[in-house]
Amino acid sequence: MTGIGPAGRRYSRGAIAFHWAIAILVILNLIFGLLHESLLEGLGVMPLHFEIGITVLVLSIGRLIWRLTHRVPPSPYHMAGWERVLSLAVHWIFYALIILMPLSGWAMMSGGPRPHQVNWFGLFDLPLLPVTGTFSGASHEFHEIFGIAMAVLVVIHIAAALRHQFILRDGVLGRMLPGVEPKHF
Ligand code: HEM
Repeated sequence: MTGIGPAGRRYSRGAIAFHWAIAILVILNLIFGLLHESLLEGLGVMPLHFEIGITVLVLSIGRLIWRLTHRVPPSPYHMAGWERVLSLAVHWIFYALIILMPLSGWAMMSGGPRPHQVNWFGLFDLPLLPVTGTFSGASHEFHEIFGIAMAVLVVIHIAAALRHQFILRDGVLGRMLPGVEPKHF
């Protein structure tokens, strides 16, 4: 299985499904995480933040396996070397973050003075991770710093997709959209 559709230049259906499911959930979680103490205070969004985060972790492991076992369409020929390197770097940093953000959240809840088990949509409790207080504290720091870094990367990633769509008009966005036949470049 190549993972490339008939045009040979678009992402496979599985890659598209993983991309959009994770994208929506990550954006929701960034909003909940960043605004739970200000705009969303009192709405009790954090249990949902934990549940969404754990869902992202499971989907991300599936996505990583998919990525490593399927080919991706090649970069368009007109992209400069630096653009290819930058886009590849951002994509792999995203792979790291969609796994490390939920794991660090889970680790921070598992240690410290008041360990707290995370419940997943009322179905089951996750076990506490075997972490020390220091590790849990470091995970908390990581979660906050990389949460902000991730929000910045999401904005850059969306800006790059919009540049391809509306300025370069090269069909790159269409490769990641369901049902859209991308241009041949
Ligand atoms: C896609 C996954 C996740 C993303 C993108 C994410 C993102 C964020 C962000 C941006 C913040 C705000 C950090 C700040 O205060 O500047 C935050 C806070 C928090 N997150 Fe997550 N998170 C994810 C998963 C999780 C998971 C799975 C858990 C726990 C099981 C978790 C627990 C928490 C907690 C407890 C806070 C509050 C920290 C505080 O206010 O001190 N997160 N998250």
